[in-house]
Amino acid sequence: MNGVNTLLYRYIAKPLLFKMDPERAHHLVIGGMSKAGRIPGVPALLRGIYGVGENPALKTELFGLSFHTPIGLAAGLDKNAEAVSGLSSVGFGFMEVGTVTPKGQPGNEKPRMFRLPPDEALINRMGFNNKGADSMLHSLEALRKRPIPVWVNIGKNKVTPNEQAQDDYLSCLRTLYPVADLFVINISSPNTPDLRNLQHGDELKSLLQAAVSDMKRLNAEHGRNKAVLVKIAPDVSDAELEQMTNTIMASGVSGIIATNTTLSRMGAEHSNRLEAGGLSGRPLEERSTQVVSQLYRLTNGSIPIIGSGGVFSAEDAYRKIRAGASLVEIYTGFIYRGPGVNRDLAAGLARLLARDGFRHISEAVGADHR
Ligand SMILES: Cc1cc2nc3c(=O)[nH]c(=O)nc-3n(C[C@H](O)[C@H](O)[C@H](O)COP(=O)(O)O)c2cc1C
Repeated sequence: MNGVNTLLYRYIAKPLLFKMDPERAHHLVIGGMSKAGRIPGVPALLRGIYGVGENPALKTELFGLSFHTPIGLAAGLDKNAEAVSGLSSVGFGFMEVGTVTPKGQPGNEKPRMFRLPPDEALINRMGFNNKGADSMLHSLEALRKRPIPVWVNIGKNKVTPNEQAQDDYLSCLRTLYPVADLFVINISSPNTPDLRNLQHGDELKSLLQAAVSDMKRLNAEHGRNKAVLVKIAPDVSDAELEQMTNTIMASGVSGIIATNTTLSRMGAEHSNRLEAGGLSGRPLEERSTQVVSQLYRLTNGSIPIIGSGGVFSAEDAYRKIRAGASLVEIYTGFIYRGPGVNRDLAAGLARLLARDGFRHISEAVGADHR
């Protein structure tokens, strides 16, 4: 059955979507998923076609949350949390919404999203286009059901100078605390001027310390224990990564997402590689896995790492897990392969674990280091 769905996507839906301007196709998918999620019976239908069943070998408990499969949707597809119900029904183990900023903002001028089909890649310079934290709050409050954990990825408004960036992150934490299962501090998008400077030195230290202390206060107030993670870029030197890791570990954040999109164009051949922005998909796979591996080594596996970058197949996801990732995210692979990809990933991962003699995915996390 999944083979048929994969073929339907590859030969019918994808050619139609890929004929459209990428951002129009994007809005069509989000709009469709949003509507589908609100029609009674449709989420259940989607789950029947694309859902991933429980498999004890893949089930993961982390950050006080339960993930029935370790593959989640990366940030940026559902920036305003408008399609959570639909997207929750197509086989993800969790999904990240956002990046959301305190106030809504239009993002960069269009066009700002480009396909590189032969490279199985995308380049985007969206610039955090979103409707703002209040709008996301209302969308998430309106959800009747939450079949999977919803992570909220937060950022700063373009007009906010880096010296005041902290206020933006804390404002998002406070506004969205009641509806987020977990927060991700995004300091690694390449499309907001100077954002990546927050990844280094005292700026990183004070931002993370402030976020962690605010989360502790909010958790105490609400009697909860929600986690806050940080998402980093792949375009850092080994020395920078080591310093960042030391600061991250000292800050008390609960985990690291590696990585965001890259400014490198290595492995990209299509003429759109000349567009400015962050590159995602196949060409990012190796570098993001390398960063996962370096992080695992630098932290001795003592903090959960979430792998993101260029996952298209179970083998790609498995490489990230063996390098040190406890969970894996996918975005570009979902666009190129369609919703059937989640079943393929889960089934393939289960096969790879069994092949290597692992009874549970946790035994494979970081296996390449042992
Ligand atoms: C069009 C597009 C928009 C994105 N927007 C965001 C975003 O708002 N926040 C964020 O943290 N990452 C964003 N990302 C990065 C993805 O979450 C992911 O980390 C990256 O694309 C690597 O994974 P992939 O190769 O599976 O796409 C975006 C990626 C794409 C392609």
